[in-house]
Amino acid sequence: MSGVVVVGAQWGDEGKGKLIDVFAEKADMVVRYQGGANAGHTLVVNGQKTVLHLVPSGILRPETTCVIASGVVIDVFSIRDEIRKLKDTGFLQNPKQLLISDTATLILPYHKALDAAREAALSDGKIGTTGKGIGPAYEDRASRRAILFGDLFDKENLKKKLELALTEKNFMLENYYKGSTFKSEDLMKDLFAVAEDLAPYRTKDTSLFISKNLKSGKRVLFEGAQGTMLDILHGTYPFVTSSSTLASNACASAGIGPASVQKVIGVFKAYTTRVGSGPFPTELTDEVGKKLQMDGHEFGSTTGRARRCGWLDLVALKYAIRVNGITNLAMMKLDVLTGHDRIGVCTAYKLNGEVITDLPTSPYELEKVEPVIEWIPGWTQDLSKVKTLSDLPRPTTNYIDYLGSQLGTPIDVISVGPGREQTLWVKPLFNN
Ligand code: GDP
Ligand code: IMO
Ligand code: MG
Repeated sequence: MSGVVVVGAQWGDEGKGKLIDVFAEKADMVVRYQGGANAGHTLVVNGQKTVLHLVPSGILRPETTCVIASGVVIDVFSIRDEIRKLKDTGFLQNPKQLLISDTATLILPYHKALDAAREAALSDGKIGTTGKGIGPAYEDRASRRAILFGDLFDKENLKKKLELALTEKNFMLENYYKGSTFKSEDLMKDLFAVAEDLAPYRTKDTSLFISKNLKSGKRVLFEGAQGTMLDILHGTYPFVTSSSTLASNACASAGIGPASVQKVIGVFKAYTTRVGSGPFPTELTDEVGKKLQMDGHEFGSTTGRARRCGWLDLVALKYAIRVNGITNLAMMKLDVLTGHDRIGVCTAYKLNGEVITDLPTSPYELEKVEPVIEWIPGWTQDLSKVKTLSDLPRPTTNYIDYLGSQLGTPIDVISVGPGREQTLWVKPLFNN
């Protein structure tokens, strides 16, 4: 069985979308396993940019089947727009290319209203969410009140569930948050219309479909959203998203066993970024951080917010390798590091005067740590046109070798630009 999980090894936006699109050339299927439209995965093909939020990043390859698994939270209006745009630009011409699980959770307008109202109500300690309703939707799933994708196609049941949900949500919105409320009739009308548009993609049992394909030897990629440090259990809680972003959740969400996964690929940038609030030990608020932000175009693809930037954090990356069981790494955006005299790499933290090499699990301790930085000589050459590993200038290979030895995990892919062709392979994804 050939299952490969692609997981973000930092705070998101590592370049998972680009990598999945590149990998999809050799895969039969891409399964998105968690998150919702908080994700923004950018693909650049022949200079044309496509930003995906919910549709898996294999969609630009017509031969690749894309599956949205149970663990995803789906804003049906957002995915309808995404599908329309794809169709208008010549992709997704065959509806069989996209399968949406009946047991995935819906994000409805009241989830977004609650997300916004909660953030607004926090004077201190705002999470800086994307405002896409992610937290409230996952809460409904956990408290067994969620409306599922399959419910869209049973009008009577949908009406019942929606009215029940609105009794509580409207009460909260009106009385606690002093906001506006939603009418069941209006929502029902919109949902009937969207159900018609999305019906061609409805799939009752995506677990069965994925399992059959794995059994028959098909190559399946599992696409994570966000990143390890935003994981609900093992991230920098409470400054996290509301799902399990880890590789292990690919199996739970898809409804397959862990033995189907052969490789776990951790995607990381050659430096670090974070959007939203929360601890970020290697953050640079000076000109160097600004240069990383400008050279890397570090502005969110979902909200347009500026991403905070800093040097690569090996303490956090080693933690990601551990908690995901990462077997191989992909380093993205190496080209962005051009033009620095020296490049910083965080190899340890200082906490209360003591040097530590394991990530503290307390966010309050993580907030207090000081990074211990080692310096690597920089380079001035433009890497974006480099076609083979042997054309990489010496200081860059020194940087790659240094990271490989520090991390003890092979770096199999190096990316030197947003385009498909700007990808250097150290080792192929699949052996045969
Ligand atoms: P994702 O959320 O992990 O899929 O990452 P995003 O798409 O949000 O952010 C990564 C950004 O970097 C996108 O704009 C990509 O087009 C771009 N990108 C990906 N790989 C590279 C690379 O190697 N070099 C450069 N310069 N940009 C890259
Ligand atoms: P991709 O898949 C980067 C961050 C938000 C916020 C926190 C919680 O493109 O890597 P949420 O809306 O999920 O409740 O917000 O998580 N966040 C991301 N940061 N990349 C993402 O996705 C993110 N999705 C959520 O900025 O700090
Ligand atoms: Mg992103």
